[in-house]
This record gives sequence, structure tokens and C-alpha cells, in this order.
Amino acid sequence: MFPQFTEDQIAIRDAARAFAQAEIEPGAMARDASGEFPKAIIAQLGEMGFMGMNVPEQYGGAGVDYLSYILALEQIAYVDASVAVTMSVNNSVACAPILNFGSEVQKQAYLKPLASGEVLGGFMLTEPDAGSDAAALKTKAVKVDGGWKLSGSKAWITNGGVGKYFVCMAISHPEKGKKGISAFVLDADTPGVHMGRPEEKMGLRSSKTVMVSLEDAFVPDAAMLGKGCDGLKIAFHGLDGGRIGIAAQALGIAQRALDESVAYAKTRKTFGKILGEHQAIQTYLAEMTARVQAARLLVYKAASLKDAGQPCTLEAATAKLFTTENAMWVCDRAVQIHGGYGYSREYTVERLYRDVRVTTIYEGTSEIQRMVIARALMA
Ligand code: CAA
Repeated sequence: MFPQFTEDQIAIRDAARAFAQAEIEPGAMARDASGEFPKAIIAQLGEMGFMGMNVPEQYGGAGVDYLSYILALEQIAYVDASVAVTMSVNNSVACAPILNFGSEVQKQAYLKPLASGEVLGGFMLTEPDAGSDAAALKTKAVKVDGGWKLSGSKAWITNGGVGKYFVCMAISHPEKGKKGISAFVLDADTPGVHMGRPEEKMGLRSSKTVMVSLEDAFVPDAAMLGKGCDGLKIAFHGLDGGRIGIAAQALGIAQRALDESVAYAKTRKTFGKILGEHQAIQTYLAEMTARVQAARLLVYKAASLKDAGQPCTLEAATAKLFTTENAMWVCDRAVQIHGGYGYSREYTVERLYRDVRVTTIYEGTSEIQRMVIARALMA
């Protein structure tokens, strides 16, 4: 099949699948109900090298290619999308910006603990009044002796309250407009960093998402990434990779919804025959399969382009748009096939239906993906 996987990629995918089924699956429903953060599982993923998969071994990572990471993420999301987003944010928008734009000193200081899973990381771009329009952010970075003081509010911060190092965008040179935004690595233990209570979310209930308030939180000069005012570029570069990750998450959720539906259609009987013998259900299952398989090709293609070092902004946005929108449809059909049981918390498809919903929203809404695709076409 496309692409032709290497032995290493197959081994990583299979290791992720085996770990997910043995260690993550058993508590997934209970964590969804309780909202308990899967701390021990994340620590185990760190030991396996899954928290910094693309980070070279010298910086504590696994040093594997992007497609391997995407294959692993898909397997984890198949079992528990909350664990998948925790892993995705750490890999794609915490480790990657530091790897791509950090100095040697920054890589030693921040990347090593993040990539090895010793600590968790995240990404602070979004604010209460700056979501899709990321450049409208208001958080200020004021120059002081030896560093900067950050003040403002950050919203919807994944891994907030459980993470330590966050790539945080703030206005350092207000006179330059959106070209005056910088990216810093912010230590959550710094005085003046206040993590809010975890948001009560519809889905991904055991991943942690918080509002963050920054009050003169000091970051040293040495914590600034890039050349000074590269904040938006660093953020958007990170999001290119992040969006392939979220597409892989949605793909894993959709594949699970399809598999649950096929299994159910083989056993549930109505009108004297199994569901799968009814043409209405057959057309649903066939359409779900077509959408999942088409999405998979887009996700793997975007990851392969990234591995080849080619620009992948358009392909990442296309993969995210197509996969997440179709994954929502697939999960909706899965609930429909399950009938009343699909509406019950006792059935996995109910969780999938809630978990998949955010994938067309975070790391850029579907509307933003269309904007990114159209801009790339017109460039
Ligand atoms: N890679 C590198 N640089 C890029 C880039 C990319 N993919 N896209 C843009 N840039 C650069 C531009 O070249 C520009 O730099 P110059 O001025 O030097 O040329 C700079 O970044 C700003 O770009 P734009 O002028 O195009 O910026 P814009 O304000 O018009 O942005 C947008 C438009 C693409 C819609 C952008 O605002 C966007 O992507 N919005 C969505 C934000 C988003 O996805 N937020 C999710 C946050 S993370 C999250 O969801 C939480 C979580 O933890 C899971």
C-alpha cells in the first residue's frame, strides 16, 4: 500500500498498537467518566520514546521520522483520543518548535526533559480574544534586566496544569504590529504563571485544558526562540506539523468508529437478520470505509512530504480538513448504526462521537484550514 512502510515504521506502529491495547484501553472508559489524567500512561509513553519521537536521540528523543510518529499517534487515538492529544501537543507544538528554532543551550535545557517524557510541554498561542485570528493576541512581553516579563491571558491550553515547558507567543515589539511577536519557552513553575481549573469539556475528558493567566512572569533572554520577532512564524511552522497530528488523531478515532460499527452490525439482529444484511446499514459502512481510507492517504502523504523536507502547509491543512470533517461524519453514522445503544455511555461510539468533535476546531478550525489551502493556491 501507499506509502511503502519501512520495517522500522511497521515495528513502531505495531508497538504503539500493542501498548495501546494492553495498557491504555483497559481504563479508557473509566478515565472518560472521571476525567483522571493518565499520568502513569504518559510516563510509560515517555520511556518508549513516544513523547519526543522526532527529536534526535542526543536530545532525549527517539529520532524517528514523522510518518512513524503519525502511525503511532493513530494507534493511540484508536484507543484513547485524550492520551493521543497529550502526546500530540508534546511532540508537535512543544518539542518541534524548540528543535527547529532553539539554540543548542535551549535544546539541552528544555528539549531533553520534554522529549524523554520527564516533563510535559504545551503551546500558548490562543487567547480569549485571539483564536482563529492568532495575530490578534494581546499578551505582552516587556523588556527587563536579563529577560522579559510576560502579562496576559492564554486560553484552551492543552497540558496546562500538568506540563512544565510551554512555547508561549507574546508581543515584544508593539511598534512592529504582528511582526513584533516573539516566542518564548515559559516554565510553568515561574512566579506569576497561574494555571486555571481544567475546562469541563464535551470530549477528550482525561486530557487537561486550562486558561492561563500571566502576571509579570519572568522569562530570561535565553528563553527566547529564534531571532527575536519570529513568534508567528515559529507558531505557524509548528502548527503545520501539529495539524497532521490532529488529522492522525481523527483518523484513529474514525477507524475505531468503523470497526465498532462493523462488529455491532455482525451481531445485532433486526427484522430476522443481522444489521449488516440490511442495505441501509451496508451503504453506511461502505461510505464510512471509503472516507476513512481516503483520509488515511492524505494524512500519510502530508507526513511523507514533511519527512522529505518539502513544504507541506497545503497538504497538512488538506489532511486536517478532510480527515476531521469526515471523522465527524463517520462517528455520527457509528452512533446511528448503534441506535439507542450508541447514545449510551456504555458504548465506545458515544465517547468517540464526543471526542472527535473538537478535531475540526483546535489547531485551526476547518474554516481556517480552507483559508490556509486557498492562500497556498493563490501564492
Ligand atoms: N510556516 C512558517 N511561517 C508561516 C506559515 C507557515 N506555515 N504561515 C505563515 N507564516 C509566516 C508568514 O510568512 C508571515 O511572516 P512574514 O510576515 O515574515 O512573511 C507570518 O508567519 C504571519 O503570517 P500571516 O501574515 O499569513 O498571518 P495571518 O495573521 O494572516 O494568519 C492564519 C492567518 C493562517 C489564518 C493564522 O492566523 C492561523 O493559522 N490561525 C489559526 C490559529 C490556530 O491554528 N490556532 C490553534 C492554536 S493551538 C491549539 O489549538 C491548542 C492546542 O493546544 C491543541
